[in-house]
Amino acid sequence: MGDKRSRIIKALKDAQKSPVSGEELGLKLGISRTMVWKYIKSLQADGYEIESSPKRGYVLKSVPQLLYPEEIQMGLKTTLLGKKIHYFEEVTSTNNIAKEIAASEEEGTLVIAEVQKGGRGRMGREWVSPHGGIWMSVILKPGIPLRHASRLTLIAGLAVANVIRNMGLDASIKWPNDVRINGKKVCGILTEAKAEVDRVDYVVVGIGINVNMDLKDIPESIRAGSTTLKVELGRHIKRVSFLQDLLFELEQQYINFKIRPFSHILNEWLALSDTIGKEVKVTTPSRIIEGKAIGITPDGALVIKKADDTKEEIIAGRCIY
Ligand code: BTN
Repeated sequence: MGDKRSRIIKALKDAQKSPVSGEELGLKLGISRTMVWKYIKSLQADGYEIESSPKRGYVLKSVPQLLYPEEIQMGLKTTLLGKKIHYFEEVTSTNNIAKEIAASEEEGTLVIAEVQKGGRGRMGREWVSPHGGIWMSVILKPGIPLRHASRLTLIAGLAVANVIRNMGLDASIKWPNDVRINGKKVCGILTEAKAEVDRVDYVVVGIGINVNMDLKDIPESIRAGSTTLKVELGRHIKRVSFLQDLLFELEQQYINFKIRPFSHILNEWLALSDTIGKEVKVTTPSRIIEGKAIGITPDGALVIKKADDTKEEIIAGRCIY
């Protein structure tokens, strides 16, 4: 079904608003005109505006503004990420779905949803995920030791920041994994891994980006510290092409991660870091550490120089500055 639908969409797009007859589409796909008509009906039901006239054929007037796999995959430049996409209008959490299916899925599989009702943030927090954002989880199987799984969070943050910077915005990364614009959070990342002995079976990298939302869509409690791409750019963003760019950038980072020493990625991360050099206060479940953020370890821990000149490495926590 998916393949035929995609081929019909492609043929109609290629025709650039001139009509394509049912007969021509049928011949191209090796199916009857009645079957073509059934596919057209299912596309219309999904929001593709297709005009049909019995004499002339079908004209694609507009495509839906949703993250349909067919739209994402058409023109996607990756070789691994997003080759298979599970799309949902509404889920509890894309990370939950990705973890359920990860064992039997190929690496690179993407789970994406328009809305999450039980979106999860770091440290047990809720992640509000209304219409207009990008809420997605990528399944990776890098075969690395569990202690290195946090490196994938760093590369995901780097990929998101790079794509946003390419749009002309000054995105930076706040340790451990927030992407910010002008000091306001636009993206959060939640990485979850399953490991056997010390090797990871899979890693789910969950990425949430505030794209076409207005500030009123963000909970009041975090609104002052948050932003969206639409707010920053003052215009609506084409989510499909943004996502295609992001998957490509993430794949490039992932390839680098596999073939280059991690120090290269760390240097790139440091160059975009908002945190290093600042006086910070990090809250962990057991205590609060204050001092100057002076670096990051290869496993993503923040190095803090305290008032007494001793150094401490913090692997996870809430960082304020
Ligand atoms: C954070 O900054 O606290 C991390 C937020 C991560 C949110 C994303 S949205 C897609 C994926 N599914 C979830 O439930 N969470 C992540």
